[in-house]
Amino acid sequence: MTNLELKNRDLKVLWHPCTQMKDHEEVPLIPIKKAHGVYLEDFDGNLYIDAISSWWVNLFGHTNKYINGKLKEQLESLEHVILAGFTHEQVVKLSERLVKLTPAGLEKCFYADNGSSAVEVALKMSYHAHLNDGKEEKTIFVSLTNSYHGETLGALSVGDVELYKETYKPLLLETIQTPVPFDMSLEAAKEAALQFEALCKEKANKISAIILEPLIQGAGSMHMYHTEYLVLVRQICDTYDVHLIADEVMVGFGRSGELFACSKANISPDFMILSKGLTGGYLPLSVVLTTNDIYAKFYCPYHDYKAFLHSHSYTGNALACACANATLDIFETDNIIEKNKILATYMGDVLQKFLELENVESVRQTGMVCAVQLKDYPPKFRAGLKVYTYGLSKGVLLRPLGNVVYFMPPYVITHEEIKIMMYTAYDAIAQLID
Ligand SMILES: Cc1ncc(COP(=O)(O)O)c(C=O)c1O
Repeated sequence: MTNLELKNRDLKVLWHPCTQMKDHEEVPLIPIKKAHGVYLEDFDGNLYIDAISSWWVNLFGHTNKYINGKLKEQLESLEHVILAGFTHEQVVKLSERLVKLTPAGLEKCFYADNGSSAVEVALKMSYHAHLNDGKEEKTIFVSLTNSYHGETLGALSVGDVELYKETYKPLLLETIQTPVPFDMSLEAAKEAALQFEALCKEKANKISAIILEPLIQGAGSMHMYHTEYLVLVRQICDTYDVHLIADEVMVGFGRSGELFACSKANISPDFMILSKGLTGGYLPLSVVLTTNDIYAKFYCPYHDYKAFLHSHSYTGNALACACANATLDIFETDNIIEKNKILATYMGDVLQKFLELENVESVRQTGMVCAVQLKDYPPKFRAGLKVYTYGLSKGVLLRPLGNVVYFMPPYVITHEEIKIMMYTAYDAIAQLID
């Protein structure tokens, strides 16, 4: 089998995610035969450094020996069982560990199978918790400008990236966007918090929750902000009886520099959403953690009709939970968060080099995520696509978001591989200058 053969077969029968399929008349579709560590290998034997952790999911490299072993072990005993009325050891163990590791106060785990569906769970649970308290008018969700929470209709409703949202607007829930802090400064955090507080003063009786991506807005071009914003939003939510939903689908599991971004700000949300890195990038799984206080609002005789009757067929899949437990084992035994600090410092040093380029506006970093903001190329110029194509030709998978080139590699990357990844991007950006 060659790349070409598989590509031709693929294009006859597949419709790829987040893709204008016509682009594949010019942009190569790359069939991957195998992967190991940070490397993807195609059918012609070319290697690519996975600088974006395969859509931000992979933590400890592809075909990680330890996770592979734990997954194979689990396959021998239980692959899946309905989670309503039944349970299994992996999901119990995982929930106990998540409750211990996440900020204090998060005591109950509700599972789904991807980030967007977990966002739906959190939104429904927040609304329903208020409803069970007799506050039926709390029907509005607030989110931040430039936010992204997934592609299902509820998740799109709280998102604010036009590219994904605009077409579907007539189908969406009514939501309100409050300004995200303009940049990473303390002043910007305070200013944005004042705007959220003003909104609460006016409308809190109608607001169920604010949902936000703590510290880094991923699909919003890796926009970053100060921890103080989370501290202030937590206080405002307490004052105005508004839930705080922390969507850590992307920032969770070490991307922010700490295991969870909320821990970095020393706050505890009412709902925390985890997915992506939860299984180390192996299998789809997501979870919404919440407090005993919220849980108690649903706990009553069946005929009071207050139960949370939400389900997904693959909720708490045993294979996915086994991968998640293996992932947490690695965090525990290999001192990952401390080791990542060394990697992050190194990436931060190389990042400064990009400022030498005349078409680079600025650079930013939070923990294991680095971003290079290019000067304002018009969308038609397709700067991101040019960087992507150049990267592939040199063996690096970069996937810029508009005019932002970013790096979010698996944590097993070496200093040498960081150099190759970032200098390839540097050259790709330099090529854009005519
Ligand atoms: C912050 C955030 N929330 C939710 C999602 C949606 O997750 P999924 O793609 O698994 O539905 C994403 C996906 O990128 C995300 O970055």
